[in-house]
Parts: sequence; structure tokens; C-alpha cells
Amino acid sequence: MNKALEFMTNTKDPSHGMEHLLHLLKYTERFFESTRDEFDIDREILLLALYWHDVWKSQNRVRIRNYLFHQWYEGLGSMLMFKKHARTAGLPQRTERAVSYAIRKHAALSSFPAITLEARLLWDIDTLDLWNSQRIQAIFRNLEHAPIFFLDAYLLYMKKRGAHLYFDWTKKEVERIKPFFFEEMASCRESLVR
Ligand SMILES: [Fe+2]
Ligand SMILES: [Fe+2]
Repeated sequence: MNKALEFMTNTKDPSHGMEHLLHLLKYTERFFESTRDEFDIDREILLLALYWHDVWKSQNRVRIRNYLFHQWYEGLGSMLMFKKHARTAGLPQRTERAVSYAIRKHAALSSFPAITLEARLLWDIDTLDLWNSQRIQAIFRNLEHAPIFFLDAYLLYMKKRGAHLYFDWTKKEVERIKPFFFEEMASCRESLVR
């Protein structure tokens, strides 16, 4: 876990650093507060997956031209980094396997739905941070090229897709945040146009 923290603290990608991780931990806490013991989720596996899921992205800067490759590869990339350190730390194989699965499945372009609850919750919690207007604004303000073009594409995508989610809790959260998110993003767009 410390090794993951080291990667995330020294991130090369500000949108996938400690702040992102701290958001996810906060969402996770709220998830458990409201669902209690409704789901049989292994917290150790979930926590390890949360800490490690974006380590690859934190060490590789995304450029627009390699964006799709990154979206597809990041799951594998982080998983391989996790596996290497899990071996050194002597983590039980069962844990290593479950965590690896969740990390691999969190990549946006991974096919087939995730099977385990831990992988599903990581997906949901990670997706929730796509609805974080502060974080998304920072991303677009830092874009060197055509921020408006990509911002519009992003907003359209978020409007249309409504991001598939596994848990009712996350679905409700998104419904709650949505209006506020689009409002904030609209004013961000205006300030970019000016
Ligand atoms: Fe990621
Ligand atoms: Fe993430």
C-alpha cells in the first residue's frame, strides 16, 4: 500500500494522483455507511484495488494521440505493477488474484461486465469521480489543445451514456450530482470560450 501511495503522490498526471484516490476513499466510506452489510465485499481486496488501480496512469502521461491506447492499457499496466509488488510483499495468491482482476476491469475500454463485487464497486466509485466537476474542470483547463472541443465531447458523452453502473447507491448518487455537475461545467465552458 505504501508503494502505491508513493506512485500516487509523485504522479505525472494531476487528475490521477492522491486527490483522486482520496475522493474514492471518501465515496467508499459513504457507500459502506449507507449500504452497511448488504453486500459481502472483501474490504482488503477493495482497498488494495483502490490504491493500485491508477498507478500506471500516474507514471505515464497521457497525450491526446495515445489517449485510446491509454484507456485500454491502463488496467493491465496498473495490474502488472501491482502484481510485481504483491509478490515482493508476499501477499496471499487469492488476494493478489482478486485485486488484479478488479484493477484490470476498471479500464474504461475493458469488455464484458465485471463479475466480482470488488471489481464492480471499484468501477462505480471510480466512475463517480467522472462526475466531480472540480476535477473535470481542472483537466480541461490544463489541456493544451482544443479544450472546448474535448469538453463538449465529454459533456455529450456524459449526457448520453449516463455511465453504466452496478450499484443502486452509485446510480442514486449520480442522479443527485448530475444537475449540479452540468451547471458547473456550463459555466466552466463559458469561461474557456471567453
Ligand atoms: Fe483508471
Ligand atoms: Fe481512477
